[in-house]
Amino acid sequence: MRRCLELARRAEGRTAPNPMVGCVIVDPNGALIAEGLHRRAGAPHAEAEALAAAGERARGATLYVNLEPCRHTTQRRTTPCAPKLVDAGIARLVYGITDPVASHGGGAALLAERGLAVTGGVLAESCAELNRGFITWAREGRPWFTLKAAITLDGRVATKRGQSQWITGEPARRHGHAIRDRVDAIICGIGTVRADDPRLTARIAGGRDPARVVVDARLDTPPSARFLPARSESPARVAIATAEDAPADRAEVLGGQGAEIWRLPSRAGRVDLASLAERLGREEVTRALVEGGPELCAGFAAAKLADEVLLYVAPIALGGGGAGAAPGWLGGAGADFLAGAERFSYWGEPERVGDDVLLRLRRRAE
Ligand SMILES: NC(=O)c1ccc[n+]([C@@H]2O[C@H](COP(=O)([O-])OP(=O)(O)OC[C@H]3O[C@@H](n4cnc5c(N)ncnc54)[C@H](OP(=O)(O)O)[C@@H]3O)[C@@H](O)[C@H]2O)c1
Repeated sequence: MRRCLELARRAEGRTAPNPMVGCVIVDPNGALIAEGLHRRAGAPHAEAEALAAAGERARGATLYVNLEPCRHTTQRRTTPCAPKLVDAGIARLVYGITDPVASHGGGAALLAERGLAVTGGVLAESCAELNRGFITWAREGRPWFTLKAAITLDGRVATKRGQSQWITGEPARRHGHAIRDRVDAIICGIGTVRADDPRLTARIAGGRDPARVVVDARLDTPPSARFLPARSESPARVAIATAEDAPADRAEVLGGQGAEIWRLPSRAGRVDLASLAERLGREEVTRALVEGGPELCAGFAAAKLADEVLLYVAPIALGGGGAGAAPGWLGGAGADFLAGAERFSYWGEPERVGDDVLLRLRRRAE
């Protein structure tokens, strides 16, 4: 199963809205016969790839897969896998987790009915962790959101004059670009577009750019912004999430620069982030990286959508405090009392990235 997870992870960021799946077929003595993985949406499923490679040798063999084989009948792109295991003569199925999509599930039960020996729940936690984006999307109709910020030792994302480039070192920035390559969308706020004019691309060797979404309730994005398709070499989609009543003339100008304009409900002049989450779900985004700034991060935290937080902590401190102080990574009104704090749990171990340290956190269950 560990090998299945390794294979599955090779297609990270390429399979949405499908899960990452790896498959291994071994003979009754445990010797490897064939492997497969789901490489991208529309490509064969991992089981189909492994079964094709195994051919006749699949008869009497054991098939390992991190997600139960699908049995759905409404499939758009490929035919269901469970019957393929029966046809190939697989004797035993070992799988990680059941399929969270109700209309796709039940493959394991079908195979047990057809006489295969079936074992489920193997390395279930690791299997669920790998596909947390797909599972969140399937159950809640929205992506798994990761908030990311580069901060100083005192938690600041910019100086009091707004300078943020660069707080962390080159290795941390490269690390961040590798994460962009593995998510389906990057999101940032209009404040960051105004301050930094980011390109929002994954600038690493062999990288591919995720969709780019800017949250901008009044369509204040300058037509010269570098993330816009007309200014960018990236073929990735670009959307501006805005309020329903945002000015039509600005929509026309930004649309002319290649941006999709997503008109969404707003509250107190701000884009409703629950509606944005739902829209992203409809666009088949299963994992999204929120790259700030502080106000947008605060919005996601307040909407209970900050599933995960990645903080790259640089060994520098800016000092100062009070009015006009350098901004921290979480904006908003701020808590008066500790009871009002946003609470997270550390996830895994801190990781040294060049001169910086990466802290991973997860939203704490209420
Ligand atoms: N170190 C880092 O990792 C990092 C990363 C990103 C940014 N930054 C820094 O952060 C600063 C910009 O951050 P910021 O907080 O001013 O801007 P921001 O978070 O990028 O954008 C926030 C703005 O988006 C608009 N908005 C619309 N709907 C919203 C919603 N539901 N929730 C929150 N915002 C919504 C609002 O603009 P209006 O009020 O105009 O409508 C709001 O002020 C810059 O100095 C930048 O350099 C640092």
